Amino acid sequence: MPLVTSKEMFKKAYQGKYAVGAFNVNNMEIIQGIVEAAQEEKAPLILQVSAGARKYAKPVYLKKLVEAAIEDTGLPIVLHLDHGEDFEICKACIDDGFTSVMIDGSKHPFEENIELTKRVVDYAHKRGAVVEAELGRLAGIEDAVKVSEQDAIFTDPDEAVEFVERTGVDSLAIAIGTSHGAYKFKGEPRLDFDRLEKISNMLPGFPIVLHGASSVLPEFVELCNKYGGEIPGAQGVPENMLRKAAEMGVCKINIDTDLRLAMTASVRKHLAENPSHFDPRQYLKPARDAIKDMVVHKMRNVLGCSKKA
Ligand code: G3H
Ligand code: 13P
Ligand code: ZN
Repeated sequence: MPLVTSKEMFKKAYQGKYAVGAFNVNNMEIIQGIVEAAQEEKAPLILQVSAGARKYAKPVYLKKLVEAAIEDTGLPIVLHLDHGEDFEICKACIDDGFTSVMIDGSKHPFEENIELTKRVVDYAHKRGAVVEAELGRLAGIEDAVKVSEQDAIFTDPDEAVEFVERTGVDSLAIAIGTSHGAYKFKGEPRLDFDRLEKISNMLPGFPIVLHGASSVLPEFVELCNKYGGEIPGAQGVPENMLRKAAEMGVCKINIDTDLRLAMTASVRKHLAENPSHFDPRQYLKPARDAIKDMVVHKMRNVLGCSKKA
């Protein structure tokens, strides 16, 4: 089974009113934990690599690890570039065999975002890859880019339709109130479901993507805090809101922060309880299991994609 694109996955997800999980990967244990979960849950899977992850691990390592996961499990997996900021990185990933790339032109004016996205779409489609773009701007931190709450811009529904028509893009990330990282809301969590409904109705059958969709579960924040430095004021997207979004045309839900918290909580706990351990396998094995448990939970209880592979 080679790498696949998300085309068929999204078609099924849209019709079935569930979302496919797109999980960020940085190393072997994270990949293995996620893949074990997908195998157990019989769930479709997108593994995504950010520019930062690519730099951290070196491009060839993550690609080979994902290939190893496919060889080991026979699972259909999408290998996706997360937040590609220019044509060059999208081209490099497509040339490396990624089946999906995100061109994130959300920081550019509308016309420039269209032009950049169209250029990537033309390159990708000729080579059998699919493209996700972003319109509107999420608050939060992602790689070296920090967008303050005041600078966040919700997606305009009319612009979304024009954007999709003019670029031929395969999926679109929209801004409706989610944000990257562990601090998503200052007060009550609130997503603009009216806006999502409008965009979804104006683009029937078209896959919408939600970034910044970690739930920052208190249990893991508390564990991190108990065994190490404080993560004060952390707050994520309530899980019932994600389930609702998945029923409204959102076919891909991005999760990174929740994996980071699960892994870090496990490592901190293990080392605090076993201060004499220094073999990395002793703390990375439970950390890998923690990633797996988190992904099983997401697939089964939040995304609704278990048994949909
Ligand atoms: O949206 C960004 C993801 O959480 C990836 O984070 O760029 O620090 O790897 P990163
Ligand atoms: P979180 O920070 O909410 O996990 O979002 C991840 C993301 O959107 C990756 O592109
Ligand atoms: Zn993102």
